[in-house]
Parts: sequence; C-alpha cells; structure tokens
Amino acid sequence: MANDRVHFFDTTLRDGEQSPGCSMTQHEKLQMAHSLADLGVDVLEAGFAISSDGDFASIEAVAQDVRGPVIASLARAKREDIERAGEALKKARRSRIHIFLASSDIHLEYKLRISREQALEHAAKAVSLAKSVVDEVEFSPEDSTRTSHEFLCEIVGVAIEAGATIINLPDTVGYAIPTGYAEMFRVIRERVPGADKVVLSAHTHNDLGLAVANALAAIDAGARQVECTINGIGERAGNAALEEIAAALMVRADHFPVESGLKMEKLYSMSQQLAKTISFGPSPNKAVVGSNAFAHEAGIHQHGVLSNPLTYEIMTPASVGVPTNRMVLGKHSGRHALRSRLIALGYDLGPADLDIAYRAFTELADRKKAIYDLDLINLVAHHQRNEDLIGDGITETVARTN
Ligand code: KIV
Ligand code: ZN
Repeated sequence: MANDRVHFFDTTLRDGEQSPGCSMTQHEKLQMAHSLADLGVDVLEAGFAISSDGDFASIEAVAQDVRGPVIASLARAKREDIERAGEALKKARRSRIHIFLASSDIHLEYKLRISREQALEHAAKAVSLAKSVVDEVEFSPEDSTRTSHEFLCEIVGVAIEAGATIINLPDTVGYAIPTGYAEMFRVIRERVPGADKVVLSAHTHNDLGLAVANALAAIDAGARQVECTINGIGERAGNAALEEIAAALMVRADHFPVESGLKMEKLYSMSQQLAKTISFGPSPNKAVVGSNAFAHEAGIHQHGVLSNPLTYEIMTPASVGVPTNRMVLGKHSGRHALRSRLIALGYDLGPADLDIAYRAFTELADRKKAIYDLDLINLVAHHQRNEDLIGDGITETVARTN
C-alpha cells in the first residue's frame, strides 16, 4: 500500500513575513513563490488579503503567475475579509481561503469579546460564505492548544458541517508539548463527526523550541498537513522550519510511513534565497541548512567522516542540496574562490562587480577569521542597496535555476 502523503503548507510569505525584519516586496514574494512551487510545496499561503493593499496585490500576482501549489489567503471570520480574499485569489488554478477564529476563552473574552455561542455562529457563517467563493476552505480555531477539548470539538464540528475540508489546529503561542499536541489530534479524530473525512493540519510556533517536535508528533497522531516556513521565520521565536520537518521525515522514514512532494535537494538553495531576500539567514548551527550543519571540526569526527560519512552524518549534504565541497574562505582566499562561492549562492557577478565585491571581501576578511555564506550574502546585498555594484552582468541564479 502506498504511504500517506503529508502536505506541506508553506506560510513563509504570510506568518513568516509577519515577523520583524522579514518583510518582502511584491517582486520578492513572487520570486519566492516560484521557487517554493519548484521546491514542491502543496499549498502556498501568499498573504492576508485584507491586511493591506500590498498583501492583496502580492496574493493576486502569485495566484495569476504561480502554478503547482494551491494558493491560499488568510481571512478572519468576517464577510469583508472573505470577499477580499476571494477577489485576490480569482486567477488561481486552485484557491483556498484560510479562516481563523479564536477559540480559547482568554481570546474570546479579552480579544474578541464574544461568547462561545457567538463564535460557533461566526465560524459556521464564515465557512459557508467562503465555500461559495473559492475551491476549498480551511478553518483554524486560533489558540487551539489553550482551548478546552470540549469546545474545540464543538467548533471543529461546526466548521466541518459548514463545509471546511481542512482543519488546522494552531499552537498559536507555542505553548504545546509533543505528547499533549498529539493527544489533541486524537481527541478530534475520535470525537468529532466527519473528522475522518477532512485533512487535519498542524501549525506550530517555536516559543519553547518545540515547533518541529510538535509538528512531528501531530503527524504521528494523524495530521496530514504541516504548516511551516523556510528557515523557521515567523512571529516571535518563529514557526516550525519546513526544512527540519522534511529532513526528519526523510531521515526517519523508518518511523514515519509518509511521503511528501518536496524536492529535497532544493532545500538549501531555498533557504539561501530567503536569507538573501530578507538579508538575514539561519544561525550557523541551524539544523539542515546552517553553515555548520555539515561542518566537522574535531579531529576524531573528521577522521570518521573521511573514512565513512555515516559515522557522524545522518544524511548526506547533497540530499538536502548543501554544496559538498565547501572551501573555507578567509583572508588568504583569492578572487577565484570568491567567485565560485558567490555563484553557488546565486550571484554571478561580472568582472567590475567582482572587483568591488573582492575588495569588500578582503576588508571583511581582515577583520573576521572565517567568512560564512551569510557574510557574503550580506556583503553583496549591502553593495546592491548602496548601488555600488554597477550591474555588469549580475544574475541571481538561485531564484530561477535551482
Ligand atoms: O499561529 C496562528 O494561530 C496563526 C493562525 C492565523 C493560523 O498563524
Ligand atoms: Zn501562526
């Protein structure tokens, strides 16, 4: 029997972009969306249509141009949000409105100032309206993990009855621990009529550093969609990192009998493209895509890896697209090494721009022992912003060719 498919719902352009320092222009979002489609994500949440004209225009552009994933817009359980989202998604091949409505008592009382009964009414009305506007409707009881199981079952039941086919249970404030998060999915599956006919989805935040662990626990408990972002960017401590969930499913296929549509070897370039776009990247020790994720310093480790990489590597760098031959760049490195590293990062500079970049690189290398990929990305981005680079053949290869 074929393995179940886990659907990757990417929200880098919505929940990710919402975090400080991560905003992107419409052009950048469109480039990111094309690359995410090439990576093989199943659903692409392109923004929150009613939140701004810029978000609306970005969703519209993505819906018109990007083929492959379902294109989604976030909406509150309000008529104006749903109509605006439907408008932005008109040109999508397959469109989804993702409705969220708080369900925890603390949110109902202090944020929305409505009763549980009113919340149930809003949920039913919003889902049936959205159903008439787009191809599919996802419903999220916001702050699910601080909602009583009894009320959570009730509101999920109402959303399913009104026509939602994807039920997302967000750990909005990053409060859950894996066993409790998994239990919540089991409760919904066991108690809510129709829950076996919809896709259950995990959406996790990293306030306790458990976002990926919680998403994996949800998969164990039957979730078949995971919501995540590249490099784990997102509100506060971030969202679950797409590349970490994907790598865990790949490396521990013995435990997770599931499949995804991701092209794993594109993970690194996707991570680098985002880092370049927002001018900040993953920390060096970030799992899977950090610059040290496959670096070995200790002699015993180096020796082991040289005789058989499996001694200290649980996956090959190539399997997630990390360049294997990573020369360490420092003040003794030449123009050649710099050029080839820049090309690997997506910057194919012409001779004059390479001169400028090389001068900046040697100045930096005098001050810093080792130059990481992110240093180079920042260096080029800085000169591009200040228009020092004259553009003699700068081609950003990462976005379209990887
Ligand atoms: O974290 C959250 O609850 C969200 C919802 C809008 C799904 O991002
Ligand atoms: Zn979120």
